[in-house]
Amino acid sequence: MVLTPSQHPDWLHWLESCPSTNSWALSQLSQLPHGAVIFTPQQTAGRGQHGRVWQSPPGTLTASFVLHQIPVVQLPGLSLIAGLAVIVAIADCCPELSPVLGWKWPNDVLIERKKLAGILCESVTSSGKTDGSVVIGIGINRQTDFQPEEMPEVEVHDALYNRATSLHQWVVTVPDEFFILEKLRFYLLNYASLLSITDNDFQSTNALTNLLPELRKYDALLGQSITIELGGNLYSGEACGISDRGHLLLKLATGEIRPFVSGHILW
Ligand code: BTN
Repeated sequence: MVLTPSQHPDWLHWLESCPSTNSWALSQLSQLPHGAVIFTPQQTAGRGQHGRVWQSPPGTLTASFVLHQIPVVQLPGLSLIAGLAVIVAIADCCPELSPVLGWKWPNDVLIERKKLAGILCESVTSSGKTDGSVVIGIGINRQTDFQPEEMPEVEVHDALYNRATSLHQWVVTVPDEFFILEKLRFYLLNYASLLSITDNDFQSTNALTNLLPELRKYDALLGQSITIELGGNLYSGEACGISDRGHLLLKLATGEIRPFVSGHILW
């Protein structure tokens, strides 16, 4: 379905072109209600995790989702939950992909080890307040043709063209953008409402714990030999799952199992 501006639902802000939907949402945050979605078919200066560039060749779905009143104690787990929302939304749109979808901690979505989608969660909190707002930026390779010559910054882009994949390579009929956006919004709001009803640290662990069994089913790192880069150091070992706090567990050569709160995974 191609929507004309007059048909856009209230929650959708359709921008013809925009440097970064996350930056736009952050700059307008106080005016945007809970559940607002910023979408552009032409993102010109997308931002990725770890300060990297996110290239958005034509056909890439780029959007940001605004959530308010998220308890501060829930913020660290939110990017994991966003990963689950992306997986479940894509599985809803393309049920035939369900068996091949994977999750690379903390929040990349893969098909057979190739990156299909990336997520950038950015939160805004004020001192003394127990809740904050979050902008969840999602980039999905929907109908993206990766041209090496069009991606001069491949080395700083996690979705190296030969390590990325796109929905159109897997399904006969690629779901339209609006359908995907609706599904993403539905699951993000749904999961956010689970988080909002909890308000202390004990319950926050439980809220994430409730969603983790579902997320763990997609864990593409489980049992793999991986290297984690953190603060300039490299840690190698075997990925052995996700703790109830959402930390990646790495079994080092010494046999020690070390939890990682953050880090960049190198296969
Ligand atoms: C990553 O994998 O490094 C995260 C990529 C996140 C990209 C999305 S596209 C929409 C939103 N706007 C941005 O500038 N970045 C996010």
